[in-house]
Amino acid sequence: MNQSAKTPVVIAKVGIIGAGQMGSGIAHVCALAGFDVVMSDISEAQLKKSSSNIEKNIARQVNKGFVCEADKDAALKRITFAQGYDALRDRDLVIEAATEAEETKKQIFRDLTPFLKPEALLCSNTSSISITRLAAVTDRPERFMGLHFMNPVPVMKLVELIRGIATDESTFTACRVFAEKLGKQIVSSEDFPAFIVNRVLIPMINEATYTLYEGVGTVKAIDTAMKLGANHPMGPLELADFIGLDTCLAIMTVLHDGLADTKYRPCPLLAKYVEAGWLGRKTGKGFYDYSGPEPVPTR
Ligand code: CAA
Repeated sequence: MNQSAKTPVVIAKVGIIGAGQMGSGIAHVCALAGFDVVMSDISEAQLKKSSSNIEKNIARQVNKGFVCEADKDAALKRITFAQGYDALRDRDLVIEAATEAEETKKQIFRDLTPFLKPEALLCSNTSSISITRLAAVTDRPERFMGLHFMNPVPVMKLVELIRGIATDESTFTACRVFAEKLGKQIVSSEDFPAFIVNRVLIPMINEATYTLYEGVGTVKAIDTAMKLGANHPMGPLELADFIGLDTCLAIMTVLHDGLADTKYRPCPLLAKYVEAGWLGRKTGKGFYDYSGPEPVPTR
């Protein structure tokens, strides 16, 4: 390790890779908290969509009286949208929030690291994949860790912090302080498949899908039962559509492969929906069809 890589980093400039719903939410909270943000994606269309979604979601907070108009304008000015990695050269912290696919994430890290300054910290927002394995493809495993936000990022209070086997204590502390500056509460999880939240949440969603698959109840019955019977803000199938059925399936597969226990077997119906391209809200169809004014169950 060279000397500059040992220098503690003060996080002021943040980079985010992946302008999807998680990346956009992370950019939103970082900019509102005063951080300078570069949002990077390969797709220009996705960057445009992200910019308009961030603006719309901060406007929601203005309408609720949580954020004033001037802070909204200042936050939006702090975000730069850029294709590729060149604009990430001066970043103190880069958070990867790309698709939940191990090879995609690893390739991003291999391509990205030559652009980063030596002291920069690198995090993944992965919801399930081993931090130790992702860190191993980078040039800075001691400066790498998991920083897992929940959807919708501006509303959910939690950030899970996950150390890989090589993560330095100074990296952990810098990321904890950063998450707290965003107004989040942190929970520390060991580096096991799907960490804490998704180890518990996604098998519940998978079980709800089995409950539908076996005909125990309809989509509406299952969601109503869990909303009114367990006080969940969303039913499990509605929540699955919100998270993305591809992400739910990817996390179940990581649990099944990583823990080698049949209790994590992904429901065939979940796999079928993903194969059909019915990924939930983001594609307009999943357990519900979102093309009309009200969501309509697809089964
Ligand atoms: N940006 C900013 N504010 C938003 C927002 C967004 N994207 N989405 C919702 N809000 C705000 C609204 O302005 C509203 O504010 P007030 O409460 O102050 O009025 C509040 O959130 C509630 O929104 P709505 O009134 O529109 O709708 P709702 O009452 O139905 O709540 C919800 C929406 C907050 C999403 C709620 O249904 C909920 O908590 N659902 C469960 C979400 C959840 O479990 N998330 C975790 C998913 S798992 C995960 O993310 C981990 C993973 O890796 C897969």
